[in-house]
Amino acid sequence: MLDQIIKGTALSLHNAALLAQDNANLRAANGKIVKMRNRPHKQIPCEEGLTVEEGLQLVSQLDLPLEAPVVESHPQGDLPIESKDKAFDGLVYQDAPMPKVGESEVLGKYPFPCNFPVVPASDGAGEVVEVGSKVTEFKKGDQVATLFNQGHQYGDIDIPATYTGLGGMIDGALREYGVFNEKGLVKAAKNLTPLENSTLTCAALTSWNALYGLKPLKPGQTVLVQGTGGVSMFGLQFAKAAGATVIATTSSDEKGEKLKKLGADHVINYKTDPNWGEAARKLTPDCAGVDHIIEVGGPGTMRQSFNCIKFEGVISVIGFLGGVKAEGQPTLLDTLSNICTVRGVYVGSKALMCDMIRAIEANDIHPVLDEKVFTLEQAREAYEYMWAQKHFGKLTVKIH
Ligand SMILES: NC(=O)c1ccc[n+]([C@@H]2O[C@H](COP(=O)([O-])OP(=O)(O)OC[C@H]3O[C@@H](n4cnc5c(N)ncnc54)[C@H](OP(=O)(O)O)[C@@H]3O)[C@@H](O)[C@H]2O)c1
Repeated sequence: MLDQIIKGTALSLHNAALLAQDNANLRAANGKIVKMRNRPHKQIPCEEGLTVEEGLQLVSQLDLPLEAPVVESHPQGDLPIESKDKAFDGLVYQDAPMPKVGESEVLGKYPFPCNFPVVPASDGAGEVVEVGSKVTEFKKGDQVATLFNQGHQYGDIDIPATYTGLGGMIDGALREYGVFNEKGLVKAAKNLTPLENSTLTCAALTSWNALYGLKPLKPGQTVLVQGTGGVSMFGLQFAKAAGATVIATTSSDEKGEKLKKLGADHVINYKTDPNWGEAARKLTPDCAGVDHIIEVGGPGTMRQSFNCIKFEGVISVIGFLGGVKAEGQPTLLDTLSNICTVRGVYVGSKALMCDMIRAIEANDIHPVLDEKVFTLEQAREAYEYMWAQKHFGKLTVKIH
């Protein structure tokens, strides 16, 4: 067995929006594990033409564990979704009907493979408490963090690796103990606390991949980050550490002040200045535009990103926080008229994560954590807090 058991000490949340859209129903068992069951159907067709079953076959070839030991069996059946007292222990899960689309609504689906029921949360950090006899990379007592796509070890991502997402295809970190293949863990950053380390798995690595995965950021270049979520805050910190100028957007002047304290050179309020693309361009040397854009708004922000991208700049398409409406979006030809690269980014490899951790240690970068820290039993409240966009940076759950 290459597996090892780690005791989770912390984890961080992301994708609250998608989870909420998916009508995720959470249930606690002994307060030690949270499982999520959603989808009215089990067969989830995938863009590449693979079914979940085919994906699972690919995963099994990778020798990665799919199921975590469940602390307590979950009663199932036709139970109400929520108890009257709204206590977390009163939550149960059940299949939900396919939601109907209203006049001004769109129906979304999590774009990556999932295998329900699943323990949510890709991000986690903890201590190794036991190792299998063939484990070479870790020993008991090591501090570790999880890798998002457990099968993405180095280089370009491939289809089998997209079927190894923690908290999607493989049970995630919202639990006290977990067995992980040693391939799916990395040594935690030495300068960070477990809570801080628990934020590196997804948002940090995605941002690092955007800035270093294709066309490495150079000192003196300009980076634009959108909003004050986890991905963008890491983007800001990595860019400042590299000697770049940072333009940050936010919907809140109060958050704008925090951005400046974190080193943002320029802040634009994207609510009061919907044409922020032009405003950002004017802030760059010779109005030539921005070298790297951490694009998390998606169709809602893409036009503005094109308005400020520099010739030969890179727009890293990471999320779609601004919705998925296609109207008014730039077309493929805009990449030619702006002579730029638009690149989809899906987290990153273990090799890239190790590079990132070395940079975090060398520059003593500390992730931006929201001041509020939740317990495992408060997982639902944590998701609600995030859904309401009350957070700044990463939202964390302390397990021990
Ligand atoms: N492709 C990947 O591998 C990958 C990896 C991680 C995350 N993602 C995706 O990337 C996105 C960001 O993730 P995250 O963890 O950073 O999210 P997050 O922490 O939830 O970010 C929320 C923040 O984004 C800002 N925001 C919301 N709508 C916006 C808009 N229309 N324009 C600009 N900013 C907006 C808001 O900032 P203000 O309150 O300051 O306005 C909000 O507080 C999500 O869509 C997530 O699913 C993708």
